[in-house]
Amino acid sequence: MLEQDIDRVLFTEEQLQARVAEIAAQIDRDYAGKQPLLVSVLRGSFVFMADLVRRITLPCTVDFMAVSSYGSGTTSSGQVKIVKDLSEQIEGKDVIVVEDILDSGNTLSYLLKLLEARHPASIRLCTLLDKPERRTKPVAVQYSGFTIPDEFVVGYGLDYDEKYRNLPYIGILKPRVYGGE
Ligand code: PRP
Ligand code: MN
Ligand code: MG
Repeated sequence: MLEQDIDRVLFTEEQLQARVAEIAAQIDRDYAGKQPLLVSVLRGSFVFMADLVRRITLPCTVDFMAVSSYGSGTTSSGQVKIVKDLSEQIEGKDVIVVEDILDSGNTLSYLLKLLEARHPASIRLCTLLDKPERRTKPVAVQYSGFTIPDEFVVGYGLDYDEKYRNLPYIGILKPRVYGGE
């Protein structure tokens, strides 16, 4: 059972849904009259993305990009790999990059630079979680769901060694699972 590996729940399903609805409402207000393109950074953001787009009432389009930097450890390897690029051009579009977590900033600083070079009309970052204590590369974030302490979180799309993504809530992993104490 996945549940046995969880120390405690950080955000329940209800808390997540409520916050996602608030972010969607903010996006609706900010992009009124526009048609934003939401770019989900796979794999971690797929659950957040799916909930977020269903709360946005504006016409919007979606695209997906896959990058990986963590490998199987709990800390970023520092190297960002583009596993899958976008399917569409973003030139002249109002892009919102959707992420599950902003941690060291390594993935996002790399990705935002790469996407900005393609000349979108605008580009903003929407992250569900922000862990500022671990930031080594500055990243500007316009939409942030929750600021969290420096603990290893899983669930709602976030993995440890590819597991736990399917938990409906966000929880803190027991240190014994990743070889701590
Ligand atoms: C995780 C997470 C973010 C990134 C954040 O992805 O989903 O994309 O790390 O960390 P950073 O700010 O230190 O770069 P990961 O590389 O584990 O791939 P995944 O989304 O497939 O789990
Ligand atoms: Mn990710
Ligand atoms: Mg990961």
